Amino acid sequence: MAEVYIGINKANPREVVKWDTSTLVNGHWILIGGSGSGKTHRIRDVTRQLQSQKFRIVIFDPHGDILTDPDYTSSVEFSETSPYGINPLTINPSPVYGGVRKRINSLVRIINKYSERLSSREEAVLSYALRQLYALHGFNYYDPQTWKPDSKKMPALDDLHRFIYGKLQDFVFGHMHEVSELFGRLYEDISD
Ligand SMILES: Nc1ncnc2c1ncn2[C@@H]1O[C@H](COP(=O)(O)OP(=O)(O)O)[C@@H](O)[C@H]1O
Ligand SMILES: [Mg+2]
Repeated sequence: MAEVYIGINKANPREVVKWDTSTLVNGHWILIGGSGSGKTHRIRDVTRQLQSQKFRIVIFDPHGDILTDPDYTSSVEFSETSPYGINPLTINPSPVYGGVRKRINSLVRIINKYSERLSSREEAVLSYALRQLYALHGFNYYDPQTWKPDSKKMPALDDLHRFIYGKLQDFVFGHMHEVSELFGRLYEDISD
């Protein structure tokens, strides 16, 4: 339960406006306004009020201008040079809402929505490769017992890249590992 003071109603100054989750059907916010209209100021104010209510606050701040109290916040930087990121291959362990199949489907949907649309063959190949990659990491497509991370390592996009590249090499060199190794060394020599 959260309660945040917002201000007073301009039309009726005696009416206090609050954000009170105990009386709301939906607690979502959207703040819209021109530059300098006070959006960041409002976010800082709301987070300050929530701090005294012992909430965990997570801020994604692309401008870096929402200064927060380090007593309440931990901070990581998301950038191309930072080791942190959001892994799009992370499986939801719930047997009802989660699983390997749902993650694969949602990833394919995301690619299709925000990038060039995959052909149905590409979709099938990507889904199959992902299913195998998850299996290698111990996450079984059919077995919800295996969807909990435990001590297993969730695959990431780098793993998928390596996995598909390995498959491609096997495909080209027909599992001839010596040739594949030679190819790898040759490639290293060329790139030196
Ligand atoms: N309610 C307010 N009371 C006093 N100063 C405010 C208020 N809202 C915004 N400001 C001031 O106005 C300036 C711009 O606000 P800011 O929150 O950075 O705008 P935005 O994020 O919408 O661009 C800041 O200097 C801020 O301190
Ligand atoms: Mg701002």
